[in-house]
Amino acid sequence: MAAFLEERSQAPDMRKINQVFCGIVAARPGERLLEIGSGSGVLSRLLAPSLQPGGSIAGVDISPEMTVEAKRLALMEGSGSGIAFLNGAAESLPYQQASFEAAIAARMLLHVSDPEAIIFEMKRVVKPGGRLVVMDWDFDTVTIDHPNRELTRRLLHWRCDHHGGNNWSGRQLWRLMKSANLQDCTIHPQMSIVHDEADGLTQSLWRAAQVAGTAGAISPSEQQAWINDLKHDLENGTFFASIVYFIVKGYVY
Ligand SMILES: C[S@@+](CC[C@H](N)C(=O)[O-])C[C@H]1O[C@@H](n2cnc3c(N)ncnc32)[C@H](O)[C@@H]1O
Repeated sequence: MAAFLEERSQAPDMRKINQVFCGIVAARPGERLLEIGSGSGVLSRLLAPSLQPGGSIAGVDISPEMTVEAKRLALMEGSGSGIAFLNGAAESLPYQQASFEAAIAARMLLHVSDPEAIIFEMKRVVKPGGRLVVMDWDFDTVTIDHPNRELTRRLLHWRCDHHGGNNWSGRQLWRLMKSANLQDCTIHPQMSIVHDEADGLTQSLWRAAQVAGTAGAISPSEQQAWINDLKHDLENGTFFASIVYFIVKGYVY
């Protein structure tokens, strides 16, 4: 899983979305940041240099293996100073209240059963005047220029509703943040448009066809035909797919 997250972070569309996210976080020197569900540490490593001198980022992840790997990668990259990874649950963070200037969660809330509780916990550990920034995609915003509409809709709807967590999380972030009484909330929709096999979304679509095929939501011949049509477009340079990520920022007062 850590290797998958690292590889995905190198895909052109993922690099772009991560840069946009970091721009909205707007980390400043001297600040203390918290990332929950930090995974292999891609975003923590990206943000860490902006916090120097004097600042730091802590990444918390529920997976002990992921935490070990995140530590190893940060050391290997030489971004070890000002960055720490801890094994723990976002539902009960091992920090006192008002410990951080900002708390962030990217591609994380879609995987939890009680995102409201996690937003409240993030809010608890952020100082008054500090900020929360959260991001998830919304898989029901996927568009693909594919010749078979009925099959594409069936496959995408199945993927959205039955695989990879709550794929409507993106559109729900605004309500979550407003309900938790975050102030001055802003929403930053980010449409990712891809044309290339190396893009993370393209890879997600291949996997969607595979898992839908394995689950019986589409037949083996439909799976193959669907992929073949997309491969044909990729070879001809006419492939088009898109998805919207929603980033919501709000302040604690
Ligand atoms: C899809 S990964 C995203 C990693 C990273 N934020 C990124 O964007 O590259 C989601 C991560 O959230 C972690 N996670 C899931 N539920 C969690 C929880 N309740 N508390 C802390 N981490 C959690 C998983 O172990 C996983 O590493």
